[in-house]
Amino acid sequence: MKQTHEQKFSENFKQIPKSFIREILNVAGRENMISFAGGLPNPEFFPVEALSKSASEVFAQYGAEVLQYAGSQGYLPLRKWIANRYSQKFGVEINPANIVITSGSQQTIDVVAKMFVNKGDGVIIEKPSYLGGIQALSAYSPSFLPVNLEPDGPDLLQIEAHCLNHVPKLMYSIPNFQNPSGVCYSQQKREALADLLKTYQLILLEDDPYSEIRFEGADEKPIFSLVPEQVFWSGSFSKMVAPGLRMGWVVMPDNLCAHFVRAKQASDLHSNNLSQYILYHFLSNNSIDEHLQLVREAYKKQRDCMVRALKMYLPQAKYVLPQGGMFIWLQMPVNINTDKLVEQTMKSGVAFVPGKSFFTTNTGENFVRMNFSNACQSEIEKGIKIIADVLTR
Ligand SMILES: Cc1ncc(COP(=O)(O)O)c(C=O)c1O
Repeated sequence: MKQTHEQKFSENFKQIPKSFIREILNVAGRENMISFAGGLPNPEFFPVEALSKSASEVFAQYGAEVLQYAGSQGYLPLRKWIANRYSQKFGVEINPANIVITSGSQQTIDVVAKMFVNKGDGVIIEKPSYLGGIQALSAYSPSFLPVNLEPDGPDLLQIEAHCLNHVPKLMYSIPNFQNPSGVCYSQQKREALADLLKTYQLILLEDDPYSEIRFEGADEKPIFSLVPEQVFWSGSFSKMVAPGLRMGWVVMPDNLCAHFVRAKQASDLHSNNLSQYILYHFLSNNSIDEHLQLVREAYKKQRDCMVRALKMYLPQAKYVLPQGGMFIWLQMPVNINTDKLVEQTMKSGVAFVPGKSFFTTNTGENFVRMNFSNACQSEIEKGIKIIADVLTR
């Protein structure tokens, strides 16, 4: 019998859930739509002029060289810049030889999963978690082992129970301003988690694209610094500079670097060489701290505005106040189905992401992820009032 193309899809591919966010974004991008849906940084802060100057200077200085194939581990000066930043900001000393440049954190998740996850292997995951992470991991057909997130981090007893019952291969976590919940792990939980990692020889993928977008409170220690021999620590320039560059990096233990590079090579040979040169030129000739200060101040104002509007119009919504990042995660009363709610609010010109997409357990109907980085204050207030009006109706 003749098979359709779809019938020929691999079992692994069929496991990848659809991105409801991408679908909503198609609608949310329409004119006059107020969107709290995307995980988009605010384009007002993309350093367009400085990057464009860096691009011309890079071409003038290096010419064809930057358009050539390049080494898989990434541009050494950029890796040195990252090591230096970690040393200054977190007091963590890293050898640039242990850093690989990636095409964003998203690729890091895929490559780490490719290295470790066989069909059915246990992967501990926060509940809720980043949809793109769930998608990337799902492609390797793991058995997800969810752990509840508390306001100060994951439920450690659940992690231990999973370790005892399932011998998981990997834990995927986002300790700073988690997407979607905004939760930041406390120092205590980080240390306790590091102990668990050591006891059960568990590998952690510490996905950390938001630590530079902290607008309140003090930095917490990366879990990598507590147990460096068992952690892949993934960073990204998407929120620091601009996501269209598709530039990220990952720090890892000595003995895993060559393996990671081999797994990444199979995907893309190397990350965009031109982007790496432009980014390095930009970082060397501009103050990233001044740039980030602007971003943090603006996001804090936008978060505060959203919190004010929530208090005024949606007092029934509960949330943990995020000290950084781009999201507020709302828990609505249990009788509210946010899939249905978003259908209605979109008719009134407001989009958000209903909670279900962020769970591997087919739950979360009464949750909502609200992005505050990409809407101006008047839109934030208007949009939340519209959501409240639709709920009342
Ligand atoms: C937790 C998390 N990980 C990874 C990514 C993907 O980031 P990148 O642009 O670096 O691929 C995102 C993007 O929103 C994210 O929120």
